[in-house]
Amino acid sequence: MASDFALFFGEMMRRPTQVVAIAPSSAATARLMIRGLIHTRGPIVEIGPGTGSFTKAIVASGVAPERLTLLEMNPRFCEILAEKFPGVRVLNRKAQDIQDIGLTDIEAVISGVPVLSRPTIQREVVGRALEVMAPNGFFNQITYSPHSPISTEMQQELGVHSKKLGTVWANLPPARVFQFKKRAH
Ligand SMILES: C[S@@+](CC[C@H](N)C(=O)[O-])C[C@H]1O[C@@H](n2cnc3c(N)ncnc32)[C@H](O)[C@@H]1O
Repeated sequence: MASDFALFFGEMMRRPTQVVAIAPSSAATARLMIRGLIHTRGPIVEIGPGTGSFTKAIVASGVAPERLTLLEMNPRFCEILAEKFPGVRVLNRKAQDIQDIGLTDIEAVISGVPVLSRPTIQREVVGRALEVMAPNGFFNQITYSPHSPISTEMQQELGVHSKKLGTVWANLPPARVFQFKKRAH
């Protein structure tokens, strides 16, 4: 079987605007991405899992596989994910479909979907997720920008606030993780 790196790089060459990064995220990034999960009990959705760097950390943290749903638009990645993570629901669907997968009160969304400088994707992916998330749910987003990938204006429009969880220099390229939560009314 091809290594995750080879598969990831090959798919990036085929679909650069979808895959965007040149390598799977590091274990250190995955640890930061799953911050807060230990306090959750309900459904968790990972969007854009790729070859499963974050999925591996989620499952290793003790989350029961049946609590986790993956939404990945790339069919090759879906095959690998289903093989690697028995019991996890792997859907070859877009993150934009999150309202159509039968879940409400989602406690956490872990997102590898590229949203930086893509306002339509931000509305469709983050905006729709918020509508099926629990009131105290959180949305952890990886980005390669030092600033929030969602502008202050868009945060206002979506009704969220954003907090930087940290930077991981040991990632190719260096990664940041931001957390979005619904604003209290
Ligand atoms: C930058 S890669 C991140 C992969 C993995 N999370 C990691 O960090 O190693 C982006 C992933 O998001 C997927 N993707 C992009 N847009 C998507 C969408 N709208 N819905 C679902 N998956 C998407 C790509 O196919 C790819 O697997």
